[in-house]
Amino acid sequence: MNKLIVANWKMNPSSESEAIQLAKASDEKGVVVCPPFPFLGAVKNALRKADLGAQDVFWQNPIPGGAFTGEVSISMLKKIGASYVILGHSERRNYLGETDEIINQKVKSALAFGLKVILCVGESLSTRREGLSQAESFVKNQITKDLKGIPSSVISSKSLVIAYEPIWAIGTGKADKPEDSASMAAYIKDFLKPKTSNLKPNVLYGGSVTSLNAARIFEHQEIDGALVGGASLKTEEFKKIIKIASK
Ligand code: 13P
Repeated sequence: MNKLIVANWKMNPSSESEAIQLAKASDEKGVVVCPPFPFLGAVKNALRKADLGAQDVFWQNPIPGGAFTGEVSISMLKKIGASYVILGHSERRNYLGETDEIINQKVKSALAFGLKVILCVGESLSTRREGLSQAESFVKNQITKDLKGIPSSVISSKSLVIAYEPIWAIGTGKADKPEDSASMAAYIKDFLKPKTSNLKPNVLYGGSVTSLNAARIFEHQEIDGALVGGASLKTEEFKKIIKIASK
């Protein structure tokens, strides 16, 4: 599969047995399954072809551990078999007070200790209403802060994936126009491209992706895949998205 499809289950499903069923139905090469922490082990055991990802990680990697109540370390995720972590999701930024500074610490540590990072960025509806170039400036500012201090060789490597998720498109059923997200993806690749090489980071689109809009999204070369929320919890729907991405 040319495209990368990431399933962000958020705080779902409600039981381990459902998680295992979902994982088995999503188990294809080129897919990353990101369950909540308690299901990581069971999902890893159920996967043969897909990769495992977590939805967050602590901003340091205390080995063997540390006094950080409620947190999960990079080493713990790696030991359980995760190779990816989603960072900077707008739900964590907006409801849990995650700042660009915290996200930057997390991105740096995760990359340094060997997890691949899916960094989420995206503008609010009010910013987007000001126009696409305002949205671009907003996203550029977020990415610049979130990737501060990270060498361009790492930024353009396969270890970092940017997920463009306009906040207003998440869970609303109103996906961005594919040509607009494609132009945002091209903009992100362009400003992150190291001056000395042609390597560009992968950029995913996220926000109300379904089997009905996936083909129109994936036909754009600039979009390297999707970060899927709601539709990744419906087995038949998610299988259709994977199939469309494989074409
Ligand atoms: P939906 O696909 O449910 O809109 O969620 C998108 C998202 O937030 C994925 O991280």
